[in-house]
Amino acid sequence: MSSENIYILGIESSCDDTAASIIHNGRILSNVVASQKIHEAYGGVVPELASRAHQQNIVPVVHQAIEKAGINKSQLKAIAFTKGPGLMGSLLVGTSFAKSLAYGLNIPLIDVNHMQGHILAHFIDEDGFEKPPFPFLAMTISGGHTQIVKVDNYFEMTVIGETIDDAVGEAFDKSGKILGLGYPAGPEIDKRAALGNPKAFQFTKPKVDGLNFSFSGFKTAVLYFIQREVKANPNFIEENLNDICASIQYTIIGILIDKLKLATKQTGINHIAIGGGVSANSGIRQALKDGEQKFGWITYIPKFEFTTDNAAMIAIVGYLKYLQGNFAEQDVVASARLKI
Ligand code: KG4
Ligand code: ZN
Repeated sequence: MSSENIYILGIESSCDDTAASIIHNGRILSNVVASQKIHEAYGGVVPELASRAHQQNIVPVVHQAIEKAGINKSQLKAIAFTKGPGLMGSLLVGTSFAKSLAYGLNIPLIDVNHMQGHILAHFIDEDGFEKPPFPFLAMTISGGHTQIVKVDNYFEMTVIGETIDDAVGEAFDKSGKILGLGYPAGPEIDKRAALGNPKAFQFTKPKVDGLNFSFSGFKTAVLYFIQREVKANPNFIEENLNDICASIQYTIIGILIDKLKLATKQTGINHIAIGGGVSANSGIRQALKDGEQKFGWITYIPKFEFTTDNAAMIAIVGYLKYLQGNFAEQDVVASARLKI
């Protein structure tokens, strides 16, 4: 690589986090995220409120990212932004902002697929973190997506399995809602699961062929189970909350691990990387590590700050595309259902 200084600004605004990051030759200089608390009161992301909050946050967040990186915006080589998938109103804020800034600075614009970002976050230069070799399998698990992707190269990716209904994060969040937990419930279920018995209650795993997932039946199973138990004992939830959380988490992890086992068998690939908000889950991280002993996997688990939505993952894709000279035109448009 030449000794050129490549500073890339990444902007992420696909859902409810407004984020900006500066990457210098593959290394992070700043990674700023403004999470939108407003949705907690509604038990889920409200799209119209999300785009309004992005509009308020985007200028200060980008400003902070540049300031924290200790650079001047005239040093930027390109601006990378999330083109999709995501909420259209949210995507529009990041897209328009990136376009205007790139135009103003007269530098290239780079469009990034959010899902590729979750996967390629593993290529950020971080001490103590190894990058997966090609080909590898990536499992992206979050509130909006659940996929197993075969990654042959930076931009040669094939989705080999995905959810046919809810995402795995929704299974956590909707189960949490049934239990009266706040939104998003994933982190609290994780904490409580550590204190409970994972085999206290049993939930049947959905039967879905091949590498696809389904979580809507699981959520209904949790609902019926809780309704039945609460009828018999109105204090059932309070008295058993940790055990319920542990059992829910145990079942979800079982579903994910089963599919990964099948994916490694079908592809013959045993390098596995995870990404997305649910990859922050301590039970999943442990199950992956256990897979190294049990199944001979070699696993790549991201730093916590790169699990949930962030702009460093967008900036790293921007950097990789910059090296290839792969730029977007000023008439590029956001795409809510963008595929890998
Ligand atoms: O990637 P992300 O920030 O946004 C989406 O693109 O959806 O993921 C958010 C999801 C939520 O469903 C949240 O409950 C889940 O990630 N999550 C967790 C944990 N931390 C976040 N789920 C289980 N355990 C966690 N520790
Ligand atoms: Zn995401």
